[in-house]
Amino acid sequence: MINLGLSLYSKGISPDKACTKVSAGLLSLVCDCAVSVRVLELHPFKFFLQLKLCSRSGMFARLNVKLRPARRQAQLSWRHRTQIRGRSDTSATFHLHEDCLELSYGGTPMRFNYVWLRDHCRSAASYSSDTHQRNVDTGSIELSIRPDRTTVEDGHLVLTWPDGHLSKYSLSWLAENSYEVKKQSAVQPRILWNSDIYKKADMPSAKYNKFMSSDDELKKFLQHYLQYGIAFVDDVPATVEATEEVTKRVSLIRETTYGRMWCFTSDFSRGDSAYSQLALDRHTDTSYFQEPCGIQVFHCLKHEGSGGRTLLVDGFYAAEKLRQKSPENFELLATVPIRHEYIEETEGHRNHITGIGPVLNVYPWNNEVYLMRYNNYDRGVLNTIPHDTVQRWYVAHRELTAELRRPENELWVKLTPGKVIFVDNWRVLHGRESFTGLRQICGCYLTRDDVINTARCLGLQALS
Ligand SMILES: [Fe+2]
Repeated sequence: MINLGLSLYSKGISPDKACTKVSAGLLSLVCDCAVSVRVLELHPFKFFLQLKLCSRSGMFARLNVKLRPARRQAQLSWRHRTQIRGRSDTSATFHLHEDCLELSYGGTPMRFNYVWLRDHCRSAASYSSDTHQRNVDTGSIELSIRPDRTTVEDGHLVLTWPDGHLSKYSLSWLAENSYEVKKQSAVQPRILWNSDIYKKADMPSAKYNKFMSSDDELKKFLQHYLQYGIAFVDDVPATVEATEEVTKRVSLIRETTYGRMWCFTSDFSRGDSAYSQLALDRHTDTSYFQEPCGIQVFHCLKHEGSGGRTLLVDGFYAAEKLRQKSPENFELLATVPIRHEYIEETEGHRNHITGIGPVLNVYPWNNEVYLMRYNNYDRGVLNTIPHDTVQRWYVAHRELTAELRRPENELWVKLTPGKVIFVDNWRVLHGRESFTGLRQICGCYLTRDDVINTARCLGLQALS
């Protein structure tokens, strides 16, 4: 098997369509191969596809030549990256440096710290493959440890330590877990979207009965959710109870100051603008929590009036646009912590909650955005920034706001009774237009870890 990573630059073609076309192109040209193509990582103007090729001949060079016409057939341009993670290339070389072991395998040079290697020994004495827990006492490893003997045997790196302990690591495991590979990989492959991209993807909604009974349907739903940050279930009975059942199929419900399941109308019963008929600009919810709620569920149970459409904006799409246009402004929003605050003083409800963190939260090893806090209503006093940075912060915030407010980035959806929407509150901003009449919405927040856990247990790549 050969894994290829292709960097493709979009010319108005959706990633899903590109997958289909590249796959078809390959199959017509490389007929002795089993081919699978999937979107690995997506940015506004380019996306990475992972191609898996199982070739009886195993001749990569021949396949690589044939990939080019396949790319032409897909009418896509590609540029710099044809990254080979060659399972067919089992050769490995290593070099022992003073501070690390350098391993070259599958075309990727990787460096492993010696303490790290002892710490990650997978022998039964060091690690339980039953509980997947570490047995080795990391605090007892000599920080100057070096292996006495190093060999590569049968696809494994084998180290003998000074105390005679033997560690054996499969080369593929080392490759998958090396920093060098991780820094080139998306933690969570996503398809970033504006309104046009999302509509053209034509993602189907799950259907209530099948969703409740079929794990395959749940898996498809979660795959859509992980890729786009939003997903729908249709034909749900318009009750709080049925909505709760649907959400429990995915995750535990996260109880907050609003309760487990909340149900609101425009009765101003809580000290929050959500409980009015006013339009609400795009925002993420609970930015004032130290860990903002990961997923939000909405179900419009009743609306006797006009207006009230829901606005959805992919915040990560806007963030990537900002990164391309103004990397220094992106960097500022990703490093300066600010405060969000919720103060409620209504009859029966007194709350004062604060959360601190930057607008953009980025994994430092691969620069992938994983959480956005954007709520101009709930942003607290800006007193965490030195005076000589405040102006630059406002400029950066304005530029991100401009991206978020581009009409082409706005997806407007009319929520109707029966249609339940799941929104990734770490990524997708929501808002609404003003409305008239009685409008009753129910929903809840979900525990992010549990949603990801469900997806992972169904075999999906779900890591954040
Ligand atoms: Fe909200």
